[in-house]
This record gives sequence, structure tokens and C-alpha cells, in this order.
Amino acid sequence: MLLLYAFDLKPSEYMFKTTPNLTRIFLSLALGVFTMLSAKAQEIPTDQSVIAAGEATFKTNCTTCHRIWEVRIGPALNGVTERQSVGWLKSWIKNSQALIASGDPAAVAIFKEYNQTVMQAFPFSDQQVMEVLAYIKSETVKGPPAPPTPGPGQSSASGSGGDTISSSYLMAVIIILVVVLALAVVVLIIAAKTLVKHLKDVKGLDEAEQEVVSQQFDVGAFLKSNNFVGLVVFVFTIIVLKTLIDGAFTIGVQQGYQPTQPIAFSHEIHAGQYEIDCQYCHTGVNKSKSANIPSPNICMNCHSQIKNVGGQEGVSEEIAKIYAAIDYDPTTQTYGTDTKPIEWVRIHNLPDLAYFNHSQHVNVADLECETCHGPVKEMEVVYQYSTLTMGWCINCHRETDVNTKGNEYYDKLVKLHSEQSKEPMKVEDIGGLECAKCHY
Ligand code: HEC
Ligand code: HEC
Ligand code: HEC
Ligand code: HEC
Ligand code: HEC
Ligand code: HEC
Repeated sequence: MLLLYAFDLKPSEYMFKTTPNLTRIFLSLALGVFTMLSAKAQEIPTDQSVIAAGEATFKTNCTTCHRIWEVRIGPALNGVTERQSVGWLKSWIKNSQALIASGDPAAVAIFKEYNQTVMQAFPFSDQQVMEVLAYIKSETVKGPPAPPTPGPGQSSASGSGGDTISSSYLMAVIIILVVVLALAVVVLIIAAKTLVKHLKDVKGLDEAEQEVVSQQFDVGAFLKSNNFVGLVVFVFTIIVLKTLIDGAFTIGVQQGYQPTQPIAFSHEIHAGQYEIDCQYCHTGVNKSKSANIPSPNICMNCHSQIKNVGGQEGVSEEIAKIYAAIDYDPTTQTYGTDTKPIEWVRIHNLPDLAYFNHSQHVNVADLECETCHGPVKEMEVVYQYSTLTMGWCINCHRETDVNTKGNEYYDKLVKLHSEQSKEPMKVEDIGGLECAKCHY
């Protein structure tokens, strides 16, 4: 195509009459490339690498409020690259409020449609915006996702809290069995008694049969017999012992701890219904030891606008508590100086002697929050899902394979390990059971 360009460039042909052929081709080439580039500047790229970069930017910055195919806090973004021009989208994403203030009709309309919820400004370069648009466009072309089919993946999140579930399950099964057995015994006794009564009236039984019929099962005598008393004592001792041992192992264990929080903050609404990413609020999980509890400023990204549930008038009691904490006056939209922290009650708490690091588990090991914290997205109020005992940590380190994918640091270790063993490399094999790794 470039060569065509070089030879078909009729209008400028005479211009090149005197120039040598080589220069002519070169100039045309340059001209061609220039025209292509300037056309490209407004065209949304389709390269996989650009789309991948856009996907990453989108997932960290936009999924809080947007999905491609669903309305969330903001509109569904499929087809937005057709609805709006590239220039408009650049201005909008970089600073939507400025575009609205300039009176742009499309911007004002969508702002009104979404109850004047502010979309924050993103100080992106043109290239970053183009990457995001490339991602949105490629997802639009793919079409809406098929409705999810419940598969085996759904149950895989049960993780290490499973031992408690299975033990209560076992208990239920045992109780049901005992009840069923007792009922069966009662029914059998009644049946036998009626049978015997009937048989007694029947004439013409031979001697052997007579004997069987007149044999009596004396329930009273059985209850008093040594066998029975022994059995009862035995079962009773087992139950008492089991309770005692369980108790001893769970001293200081706070599994299930679910304190009342100062604000009725619901993970079910935020992380579940609105699918806000855990890391949007717990900013430390990927990079540091602690996960962090979000400051009220993070809440205000949305709650400066969302003042009540279901679009009701006024400020709800719970939201008012956020405003009180940062001394915000929603009528004048001003901040005062009388701030006081929200006193969230800490739920998970390891003793000081143990060292636990989130980024090691979330970032390096690529574990899901749910593996350790349970179904947080369904929790109206958070509770401690796992036991957090030493045995719990150790068990998982024995059972879990090290995530070595794309981690050069592990290449040598993996090689060494595979020379010694055919099993995949577990955390145990990289020193995950050494006392000093978890104890200072
Ligand atoms: C805090 C929530 C929030 C975040 C984060 C957010 N948006 Fe928005 N966005 C909105 C809302 C709400 C609207 C609707 C207009 C309004 O109320 O301002 C909107 C509108 C838009 C529109 C216009 C849609 C249309 O149909 O015309 C585009 C495009 C857009 N957002 C892109 C993005 C991109 C790209 C990102 C990430 C870089 C992003 N948004 C992050 C809340 C958000
Ligand atoms: C909108 C902000 C927000 C989002 C999103 C969010 N959280 Fe939280 N999270 C909080 C706040 C605020 C607290 C403290 C109050 C409480 O315990 O409910 C908290 C507490 C917790 C706690 C208990 C901390 C303790 O005291 O030991 C865990 C565990 C937790 N979040 C996990 C998650 C997980 C997992 C996700 C994602 C599925 C998530 N959070 C998403 C704001 C958020
Ligand atoms: C990304 C946006 C976003 C962030 C950040 C956010 N929320 Fe929310 N919040 C919402 C939405 C959406 C609702 C549901 C509103 C509705 O039901 O109409 C909500 C509802 C609530 C409610 C229920 C309101 C009521 O009157 O009962 C409370 C309380 C609340 N949020 C507290 C918080 C706190 C505390 C934080 C900070 C730790 C926070 N939110 C951060 C979007 C957000
Ligand atoms: C390997 C298990 C594990 C995983 C995975 C995990 N956590 Fe934790 N989390 C813990 C333990 C253990 C504590 C208690 C830490 C302490 O007391 O020092 C904790 C504490 C917390 C706390 C309380 C505040 C803090 O920093 O101590 C929050 C919030 C939290 N986790 C959120 C998350 C989120 C969000 C994710 C996913 C991105 C996650 N956790 C993944 C085990 C885990
Ligand atoms: C759900 C499984 C799981 C649980 C539960 C868990 N860990 Fe881990 N842990 C891992 C994995 C996987 C790694 C390997 C990370 C890596 O590749 O460096 C790891 C690594 C570690 C390391 C670094 C080990 C090393 O050799 O560098 C420490 C320290 C650690 N965990 C402490 C703890 C403590 C303390 C607890 C309990 C409070 C705990 N872990 C609970 C899965 C778990
Ligand atoms: C994977 C992490 C991990 C490793 C490895 C580990 N511990 Fe622990 N250890 C813990 C945690 C977490 C606790 C706190 C448990 C609790 O609060 O119930 C703990 C508690 C303890 C306690 C105090 C018990 C109590 O009741 O207060 C002692 C003692 C201890 N560990 C000794 C050791 C020794 C010795 C080793 C090496 C053989 C070791 N630990 C290896 C995580 C670990």
C-alpha cells in the first residue's frame, strides 16, 4: 500500500520530476506514514497488547463503578466508543466535571441521568485513555457474556475453614442416625408385641413355635442390666471428653467473632451487590503486611453523592455518621476541622508473637481473600471465618502448592525440588514450617 502511495501520488508528480528516484520514493514513504499516523490518532487501536494494557487500567480504576454490559454506579460502557467521539471521551475521562461545567449537552445529560453522581477525574495520558477505549471496544465486539453456569469452581472457595463445617455436619448426621435408630426400635417393639398377642390366640402351633411366642422380652430388665448401664456410661464419657478437648484446643480462638460496628457498613452491599473490589478499600493487601481499614475519605468518593439508600431524600442516619467523622456539612458541602476517627472494632487479631503478611499471601501466593476470610461478599456484618490458630497456618502450608508461575525467584528452587521429589512444591518445602518464619 505504501508503494502504491509512492507511485500513484499524481498531484505531486511534477514536484518530483527533477528529484532522483530514490529521494522521491523516500519522500512519498514519509508522507504516507505521516498520513497514516494522523489518521490513527483518532482511531481506536485493536492490538492485543494495547487492549491488555487498557484492561489492566480499567480493572484498577473503573470497575468500582462500571461494567461493560451492566449498569452499576455508572452506565454500562458497551458501545460508548460509538455513542461518543474519541475527543469527547478523552475530555470526559480526564475530567468529567470540567466537561459538564463547560455546558457540553451530552455530558450534562448523562450527569443528570445518573442523579448527578460525580465520576472522579483521571489524570491519564492520551495513550492510557486510548488503551482503555481499545479494551472497551474489544469487549463490545465480543458481545455480552453468556449467563454463568454453576460449575465445580463455585464450591472451591470453601478453603481451610472447611474442617469446622464438616465436623458440625458430622454431628448432625450422628444425631439424625441416633433418632432414626431409636424410632426404629420403638416401632419394632410395638410390632413384636402386637404379633405376640395375635399368635397367642392362634390354635395349632407346634411346641417349638409355642416356645418362641411365649418368650418375653423384658424391657425393664434390660434397662437395669449391666450391659446397658455400661453402654450409657461409655457414650456419656466419650461426649464429655470430646467437648473438653475441643474446648481446650479453642481457648482464645475467636472464630465466628462478629462485633457490632459503629457504622452499619455492609460488605454484602458494597463488595457483593455493587461488586466493589476489595482492594479499592483495603489498599494494603497487595503491597504490605496489613490490609488496612479504609479511611472515611475513601467512603466519601461515593458518599459525598450517595446520601441515602434507594435514592431517598435527606441523609440517612448511617451516612450521617461518616459525615460526622470528617466534619462534613452536606448542605454547604464544606469540611470543618472537628474530625474524629471512626472506631471500627477489630475482628481479626493475631497475637504479637506471630507474623503474618498479606502481600505474601495475596500478591505472591495469589490466594483469594475468601480462602481465609470466607464468603465476605455475602456478609452483612463481617465475622472471623477461620480459626487463625497456628495449626491452621501450618495445615495450609503443608497442603498448598507454591505459586511459581512467572516468578523467576522460584525457578532454581523448583528445579532443585523436582530433582528430589515428584510431588509439586508445597509451602512446606520452601521453609513454610520453620518457626522463625512466623515468630520473631
Ligand atoms: C466513582 C465512580 C466512577 C468511577 C470510578 C468511574 N466512573 Fe465513569 N461514570 C460514573 C458515573 C456516575 C457516570 C454517569 C455520569 C455522571 O453521573 O457523572 C459515568 C460516566 C462515564 C462515561 C460516559 C458514559 C456514556 O454512556 O456516555 C464514560 C465513558 C466513563 N464513565 C468512563 C469511565 C472510565 C474509563 C473510568 C475509569 C478510568 C471510569 N469511568 C471510572 C462513575 C464512575
Ligand atoms: C467500600 C469499602 C470496602 C470494600 C469494597 C471491602 N471492604 Fe472489607 N472492610 C471495610 C470496612 C469499613 C471494614 C471495617 C468495618 C467492618 O468490619 O465491617 C472492613 C472490614 C473487613 C474485614 C475485617 C477486618 C478486621 O477487623 O479484622 C475483612 C476480613 C474484610 N473487610 C475483607 C474484605 C474483603 C475480602 C473484601 C472484598 C470481597 C472487602 N473487605 C471489601 C470496607 C470495605
Ligand atoms: C464505590 C462507591 C462506594 C464507596 C467507596 C462506599 N460506598 Fe457505601 N454505599 C455505596 C452504594 C452504591 C450504596 C447503596 C445505596 C443504595 O442502596 O441506594 C452504599 C450504601 C452504604 C450504606 C447504607 C446506607 C444506609 O443509609 O443504610 C452505608 C452505611 C455505607 N454505604 C457506608 C459506607 C462506608 C462507611 C464507606 C467507607 C468505608 C463506604 N460506604 C464506601 C457505594 C459506596
Ligand atoms: C492466607 C490467609 C489470608 C488471605 C488470603 C487474606 N487474609 Fe486478610 N487476614 C488474614 C489474617 C491471618 C489476618 C489477621 C492479621 C493480624 O492480626 O495481624 C487478616 C486480617 C485482615 C484484615 C484486618 C486488618 C489487617 O490488616 O490486619 C483485613 C481488612 C483483611 N485481612 C482483608 C483481606 C483482604 C481484602 C484479602 C484479599 C485481598 C485478604 N485479607 C486475604 C489472613 C488472610
Ligand atoms: C490458605 C493457605 C494459607 C494459610 C491459611 C496461611 N498461609 Fe502462609 N503461605 C501460603 C502460601 C501459598 C505461601 C507461599 C508464598 C510464597 O510463594 O512466597 C505462604 C507463605 C508464608 C510465609 C513466608 C514463608 C517463606 O518461606 O517465605 C509466612 C511467614 C507465612 N506464610 C505465614 C503465615 C501465617 C502466620 C499464617 C497463619 C496466621 C499463614 N501463613 C496462613 C499459604 C497460606
Ligand atoms: C506458619 C506460621 C507458623 C509457624 C511455621 C510456626 N508458628 Fe507458632 N504460632 C503461629 C501462630 C499464628 C500462632 C498464634 C496462634 C493463636 O493465637 O492461637 C502461634 C503460636 C505459637 C505459640 C504460642 C501458643 C500459645 O498458646 O500462645 C508457640 C509457643 C509457638 N507458636 C511455637 C512455635 C514453634 C516452636 C514453631 C516451630 C516448630 C512454630 N511455632 C512455628 C504461627 C506459626
